[in-house]
Amino acid sequence: MEEDRWADLVRRMKETGMFREDRMDPRFVASNYYAGRAVLRGPNPSRRGTPARIEAYTALVKTRDPNWFEIALMYVDEKLQGNGVAKGLLTEVRTKKPGAKFFLISRDPAVWALARGAGFDPVTKRFFPEVEDWAKRLGLGEWLPDTALRDTVPRLNREERWLFRKK
Ligand SMILES: CC(C)(COP(=O)(O)OP(=O)(O)OC[C@H]1O[C@@H](n2cnc3c(N)ncnc32)[C@H](O)[C@@H]1OP(=O)(O)O)[C@@H](O)C(=O)NCCC(=O)NCCS
Repeated sequence: MEEDRWADLVRRMKETGMFREDRMDPRFVASNYYAGRAVLRGPNPSRRGTPARIEAYTALVKTRDPNWFEIALMYVDEKLQGNGVAKGLLTEVRTKKPGAKFFLISRDPAVWALARGAGFDPVTKRFFPEVEDWAKRLGLGEWLPDTALRDTVPRLNREERWLFRKK
Protein backbone atom coordinates (compact mmCIF):
# COMPACT_ATOMS: atom_id res chain seq x y z
CA MET A 1 0.00 0.00 0.00
CA GLU A 2 1.16 3.50 -0.87
CA GLU A 3 0.36 4.81 2.65
CA ASP A 4 2.49 2.11 4.28
CA ARG A 5 5.56 3.42 2.46
CA TRP A 6 5.16 6.82 4.04
CA ALA A 7 4.44 5.38 7.48
CA ASP A 8 7.54 3.19 7.19
CA LEU A 9 9.68 6.16 6.16
CA VAL A 10 8.38 8.25 9.06
CA ARG A 11 9.07 5.41 11.51
CA ARG A 12 12.74 5.35 10.40
CA MET A 13 12.94 9.15 10.51
CA LYS A 14 11.52 9.16 14.06
CA GLU A 15 14.15 6.65 15.17
CA THR A 16 16.92 9.19 14.45
CA GLY A 17 15.45 11.56 17.06
CA MET A 18 16.45 14.47 14.79
CA PHE A 19 13.08 15.75 13.65
CA ARG A 20 10.28 17.92 15.02
CA GLU A 21 7.63 15.71 16.57
CA ASP A 22 4.79 17.70 14.95
CA ARG A 23 6.21 16.91 11.50
CA MET A 24 6.48 13.17 12.06
CA ASP A 25 3.15 12.56 10.34
CA PRO A 26 3.07 10.32 7.25
CA ARG A 27 0.33 12.47 5.70
CA PHE A 28 2.42 15.63 6.07
CA VAL A 29 5.55 13.97 4.64
CA ALA A 30 3.58 12.48 1.72
CA SER A 31 1.64 15.66 0.99
CA ASN A 32 4.83 17.66 0.49
CA TYR A 33 5.90 15.13 -2.13
CA TYR A 34 2.58 15.00 -3.98
CA ALA A 35 2.48 18.84 -3.96
CA GLY A 36 5.86 18.86 -5.75
CA ARG A 37 7.77 20.13 -2.73
CA ALA A 38 9.87 17.09 -1.91
CA VAL A 39 12.39 14.74 -3.51
CA LEU A 40 13.19 11.14 -2.64
CA ARG A 41 15.32 8.11 -3.50
CA GLY A 42 14.63 4.41 -3.52
CA PRO A 43 14.32 1.31 -5.74
CA ASN A 44 11.26 -0.19 -7.46
CA PRO A 45 9.21 2.83 -8.43
CA SER A 46 5.50 2.08 -8.52
CA ARG A 47 3.22 3.48 -11.19
CA ARG A 48 2.82 6.68 -9.18
CA GLY A 49 6.59 6.97 -8.98
CA THR A 50 6.94 6.25 -5.27
CA PRO A 51 9.56 3.61 -4.45
CA ALA A 52 8.44 0.55 -2.45
CA ARG A 53 10.97 1.58 0.16
CA ILE A 54 11.74 5.29 0.41
CA GLU A 55 15.42 5.34 1.32
CA ALA A 56 15.97 9.09 1.33
CA TYR A 57 13.77 12.18 1.45
CA THR A 58 14.00 15.98 1.63
CA ALA A 59 11.19 18.56 1.57
CA LEU A 60 10.63 22.25 1.09
CA VAL A 61 8.30 23.26 3.90
CA LYS A 62 6.18 26.37 3.32
CA THR A 63 6.46 29.41 5.58
CA ARG A 64 4.10 32.39 5.96
CA ASP A 65 6.23 34.23 3.40
CA PRO A 66 5.62 32.73 -0.05
CA ASN A 67 9.18 33.63 -1.12
CA TRP A 68 10.84 31.60 1.65
CA PHE A 69 10.94 27.82 2.11
CA GLU A 70 12.57 25.73 4.81
CA ILE A 71 14.66 22.83 3.52
CA ALA A 72 13.60 20.24 6.05
CA LEU A 73 13.11 16.58 6.87
CA MET A 74 16.42 15.71 5.25
CA TYR A 75 16.83 11.97 5.73
CA VAL A 76 19.05 9.24 4.28
CA ASP A 77 18.94 5.57 5.39
CA GLU A 78 21.95 4.74 7.54
CA LYS A 79 23.37 2.19 5.10
CA LEU A 80 23.44 4.80 2.31
CA GLN A 81 24.95 7.65 4.31
CA GLY A 82 28.26 9.23 3.36
CA ASN A 83 27.80 8.75 -0.39
CA GLY A 84 26.60 12.19 -1.35
CA VAL A 85 22.91 11.24 -1.39
CA ALA A 86 21.87 14.18 0.82
CA LYS A 87 24.04 16.51 -1.25
CA GLY A 88 22.09 15.46 -4.36
CA LEU A 89 18.74 15.85 -2.60
CA LEU A 90 19.68 19.33 -1.40
CA THR A 91 20.51 20.40 -4.96
CA GLU A 92 17.44 18.76 -6.50
CA VAL A 93 14.88 19.98 -3.97
CA ARG A 94 15.81 23.60 -4.65
CA THR A 95 14.90 23.17 -8.33
CA LYS A 96 11.28 22.55 -7.21
CA LYS A 97 10.81 26.26 -6.46
CA PRO A 98 12.82 28.32 -8.93
CA GLY A 99 13.34 31.88 -7.73
CA ALA A 100 12.49 31.06 -4.12
CA LYS A 101 14.76 31.65 -1.11
CA PHE A 102 15.79 28.93 1.28
CA PHE A 103 16.94 28.33 4.84
CA LEU A 104 17.45 25.33 7.07
CA ILE A 105 17.83 24.66 10.78
CA SER A 106 19.93 21.80 12.11
CA ARG A 107 22.13 20.58 14.94
CA ASP A 108 23.78 17.96 12.72
CA PRO A 109 27.40 18.74 11.66
CA ALA A 110 26.86 16.73 8.46
CA VAL A 111 23.98 19.06 7.53
CA TRP A 112 26.11 22.10 8.41
CA ALA A 113 28.79 20.80 6.00
CA LEU A 114 26.20 20.24 3.29
CA ALA A 115 24.67 23.68 3.82
CA ARG A 116 28.02 25.46 3.66
CA GLY A 117 28.91 23.52 0.52
CA ALA A 118 25.69 24.72 -1.09
CA GLY A 119 26.43 28.37 -0.28
CA PHE A 120 24.36 28.73 2.90
CA ASP A 121 25.76 30.75 5.82
CA PRO A 122 25.13 30.26 9.55
CA VAL A 123 23.14 33.19 10.95
CA THR A 124 23.71 35.40 13.97
CA LYS A 125 22.48 38.92 14.70
CA ARG A 126 25.99 40.21 14.05
CA PHE A 127 25.59 39.78 10.30
CA PHE A 128 21.79 39.69 10.10
CA PRO A 129 20.45 42.20 12.66
CA GLU A 130 16.87 41.81 11.39
CA VAL A 131 16.81 38.08 12.09
CA GLU A 132 13.97 38.28 14.65
CA ASP A 133 11.70 40.31 12.37
CA TRP A 134 12.52 38.00 9.48
CA ALA A 135 11.71 34.92 11.59
CA LYS A 136 8.44 36.49 12.77
CA ARG A 137 7.41 37.27 9.20
CA LEU A 138 8.01 33.65 8.20
CA GLY A 139 6.19 32.35 11.28
CA LEU A 140 9.15 30.45 12.72
CA GLY A 141 8.08 31.19 16.29
CA GLU A 142 9.97 29.20 18.89
CA TRP A 143 11.66 27.16 16.18
CA LEU A 144 14.19 29.99 15.63
CA PRO A 145 17.40 28.72 17.32
CA ASP A 146 18.83 30.78 20.22
CA THR A 147 22.20 30.74 18.42
CA ALA A 148 20.73 33.05 15.73
CA LEU A 149 20.13 35.73 18.40
CA ARG A 150 23.79 35.99 19.40
CA ASP A 151 25.65 39.16 18.62
CA THR A 152 28.86 37.28 17.86
CA VAL A 153 30.52 35.71 14.85
CA PRO A 154 28.97 32.24 14.26
CA ARG A 155 31.00 29.57 16.06
CA LEU A 156 29.38 26.21 15.52
CA ASN A 157 29.43 23.78 18.44
CA ARG A 158 28.12 20.26 18.58
CA GLU A 159 24.67 19.89 20.15
CA GLU A 160 23.60 23.42 19.17
CA ARG A 161 20.93 24.17 16.61
CA TRP A 162 21.88 26.64 13.90
CA LEU A 163 19.95 28.59 11.30
CA PHE A 164 21.55 28.61 7.83
CA ARG A 165 20.32 31.00 5.18
CA LYS A 166 21.16 31.47 1.53
CA LYS A 167 21.18 35.13 0.61
C1 LIG B 1 22.29 14.14 7.68
C2 LIG B 1 22.08 13.15 6.54
C3 LIG B 1 20.80 13.50 5.80
C4 LIG B 1 23.28 13.23 5.58
O1 LIG B 1 23.07 12.32 4.50
P1 LIG B 1 24.29 11.75 3.59
O2 LIG B 1 23.73 11.21 2.35
O3 LIG B 1 25.12 10.86 4.44
O4 LIG B 1 25.10 13.08 3.30
P2 LIG B 1 26.18 13.31 2.16
O5 LIG B 1 26.95 12.03 1.99
O6 LIG B 1 25.55 13.90 0.97
O7 LIG B 1 27.09 14.45 2.77
C5 LIG B 1 27.45 14.46 4.12
C6 LIG B 1 28.41 15.62 4.33
O8 LIG B 1 28.60 15.80 5.71
C7 LIG B 1 29.95 15.59 6.03
N1 LIG B 1 29.93 15.00 7.36
C8 LIG B 1 29.44 13.80 7.71
N2 LIG B 1 29.56 13.65 9.03
C9 LIG B 1 30.10 14.78 9.50
C10 LIG B 1 30.49 15.24 10.79
N3 LIG B 1 30.31 14.50 11.88
N4 LIG B 1 31.03 16.47 10.91
C11 LIG B 1 31.23 17.26 9.83
N5 LIG B 1 30.87 16.88 8.57
C12 LIG B 1 30.35 15.65 8.43
C13 LIG B 1 30.50 14.74 4.93
O9 LIG B 1 31.89 14.86 4.83
C14 LIG B 1 29.77 15.36 3.74
O10 LIG B 1 30.31 16.62 3.40
P3 LIG B 1 31.12 16.85 2.04
O11 LIG B 1 30.15 16.65 0.92
O12 LIG B 1 31.59 18.26 2.16
O13 LIG B 1 32.20 15.82 2.08
C15 LIG B 1 22.00 11.70 7.09
O14 LIG B 1 23.16 11.45 7.86
C16 LIG B 1 20.77 11.44 7.94
O15 LIG B 1 19.71 11.13 7.43
N6 LIG B 1 20.90 11.51 9.28
C17 LIG B 1 19.79 11.24 10.18
C18 LIG B 1 18.70 12.28 10.11
C19 LIG B 1 19.21 13.69 10.27
O16 LIG B 1 20.04 13.97 11.12
N7 LIG B 1 18.72 14.61 9.43
C20 LIG B 1 19.03 16.00 9.50
C21 LIG B 1 18.05 16.68 10.37
S1 LIG B 1 18.18 18.44 10.20
